[in-house]
Parts: sequence; structure tokens; C-alpha cells
Amino acid sequence: MKIGLVYNLRKTYLKKIDDPIDADAEWDSEKTIYHLTHAIESLGHTVIDIGSPENVIHKFNEFTNVDLVFNIAEGRKGRCRESQVPAMCELFNIPYTFSDPLTMAIALDKILCKQIIQKAGIPTAPFWKISTAHDMTLIPENAFPLFVKPALEGTAKGITSDSMVRDRLAFEKQVTYLITTYKEPVLVEQFLSGKEFTIAVIGNPNPYILGMMEIIINDPSQNNIYTFDAKENWKSKVTYTFFNDRENVLWKQLSRIALEAYTVLECRDVARVDVRCDERQNPYFMEINPLPGLTPEHSDFPMIAGMVGRSYESLINEIIEQAWQRYH
Ligand SMILES: Nc1ncnc2c1ncn2[C@@H]1O[C@H](COP(=O)(O)OP(=O)(O)OP(=O)(O)O)[C@@H](O)[C@H]1O
Ligand SMILES: [Mg+2]
Repeated sequence: MKIGLVYNLRKTYLKKIDDPIDADAEWDSEKTIYHLTHAIESLGHTVIDIGSPENVIHKFNEFTNVDLVFNIAEGRKGRCRESQVPAMCELFNIPYTFSDPLTMAIALDKILCKQIIQKAGIPTAPFWKISTAHDMTLIPENAFPLFVKPALEGTAKGITSDSMVRDRLAFEKQVTYLITTYKEPVLVEQFLSGKEFTIAVIGNPNPYILGMMEIIINDPSQNNIYTFDAKENWKSKVTYTFFNDRENVLWKQLSRIALEAYTVLECRDVARVDVRCDERQNPYFMEINPLPGLTPEHSDFPMIAGMVGRSYESLINEIIEQAWQRYH
């Protein structure tokens, strides 16, 4: 097959003066694109390097003549940024990997996503949307401790050890910081103090659990949060433990949350679901990633694939196969 690769390269990100330090965090390194290209080619396909979503215009003939678009572009801004390439693929009737534009946008808007998840009866922590100073006054006193995060980001952008707030003063400070820095609504949630897991789901129309792992934060300064700092310095700050006790009650609860979320949100091909427990180890849906990071060895999804004995090439092959089968 001729596979068109679309991605955002971190080194091409032009930082604006008021950008936060993690502004380009969602974009990919040259190393990731190199490994992805190599993996696709090792499967016998030809990679057509499209590059950034904007390049679709410059390479229009190449883009519209591929058999399948393999899109990992995160886009620039807003909750529709991951939907832009899927929408172009739909416009020009080109088969493409991963979820459709609607699922991509809903997953990226963590508040809308939690509303749907809640409505479906999937456990998720109580939450509030903060867009104005007035919204802050609506949080009840007995809700603390809370967790505050940007509503439309990934890769732990805006998430630090200060994201957990114990009182109103810290809460207002952190919310104000996030709103002025990221210029988007803030999601406030009940703080979940228990274990954290990430779960890899694959498949259409009957998804299955590829595997899951527990995320253990070793560095006490991170407040037991999988922060941007912990993600960047994972070798020293994080331990990833394969959780594969399929008879365990918690394993069953986690897989049910992941499969139900994947199904309710109509995800396609693959997604990674992040779940965290409260102090009594009851698990709650945190968020879903229909465009999970694909850096070999470093991103959570390929790491889980490695734990179940799957090579990076075999994971990429499965994504391509899952996508291709949907069109045939
Ligand atoms: N309600 C919560 N209670 C406790 N910790 C939380 C809560 N929400 C998020 N966290 C912590 O913050 C981390 C990042 O949150 P979240 O997964 O929502 O962000 P993200 O940027 O979308 O992550 P990803 O890198 O997976 O895209 C979580 O992995 C978890 O450690
Ligand atoms: Mg996450």
C-alpha cells in the first residue's frame, strides 16, 4: 500500500512570545517519525511523507492518491485540532487510521467527554467547568482536595505537582494560572488519591484489551501525579508495572471501564484509556486518547504492546490492518 504519513514535528513548532513552556509537547520528535516510517516500510508498504496537516495543500496530489492516511498530527489549537486531518480525509474520501473527527474532538474536550461518559453510567469523578471568575465561586467547600487541568490538552500539558489543590487560595491561583496561560476552560475534578492505570484497547467492531499497566510515581516531589515533568523524565521518576491478573476484580473493573468508554465514544482502531482510583481503590475514568502517543519504548501504548510481547512493527501493523478492514 501507499501510506501517507501526516504528523506535526516538534522542531518545526514556532513558539510565540506568550506560549507556555510545554506548548509543543504534543508534537512528535524526528526519532518517532523515523521509527514509524521504518516500521511501516518494514511491513512492505511505501511511505508517502506528507508532513504537517498544512502540507496537505502543498502535496495535494500525493495526499489524495495514497491508499491509506496514517495520521498522528495533533494540530495547533482548540478541541478540533486532532480532527482536522480526519475531516480532510473524509472530504476527499481517503481511508485513514484512528477515530473520526467527531470522536477526536469529543475526546479532546475533556469536559464534554466526561458528560457523555457520566451519562453512559461509566464511573468518573465529579467535575466542574471553569471559564470565568464567577465559576470559581460555585465550587463547594467540602469538594476539596481538587485537581485542576486545562480542558483541551494532552501530554500532561499544564499538569504539575501544583495541580492538586487543598484549599480555595491554591485553587484560585492555579485556575487563574491555567486560564491565562492556556487561554481555554479549566476542568476541575475531585482529587483521586489511589492507584493509576493506563489501558490499551484495540479493535473494530469488537474491541479487546491489549493490556494495561499501573503507573507508579517514584519522585515524591510530584505529589503522586503523572506530571509533565514525570513524563519527560520517566526513566528516573516513573515505574510502569504490567498488570495482567485477568481474574483480579480490579482488572475486570478497569477493562470494563476502558471497553465501555471506547464503545460509547465510538473509537476506532485503537485508544488508550486513563483510569485512576479513589482512596478505597474504586476506579474512575479520567480521559481517553484516541490518538495515543506512538514513540517506541517511551509512549504508554507501545510500552504496553512490549509488555504483552508485541513488537513495535506488529503494533503498527495491527493499526493499519484494523483501519484497512473498516473500509473493506
Ligand atoms: N482527578 C484527578 N485526580 C488525581 N490525579 C489526576 C486527576 N486527573 C488527572 N490526574 C493526574 O494528572 C495526569 C494527567 O491527567 P490527564 O490524563 O487528564 O492529562 P493528559 O494531558 O490528557 O494526559 P496524556 O498524557 O495521557 O494525554 C494523570 O495521569 C494523573 O496522574
Ligand atoms: Mg492522560
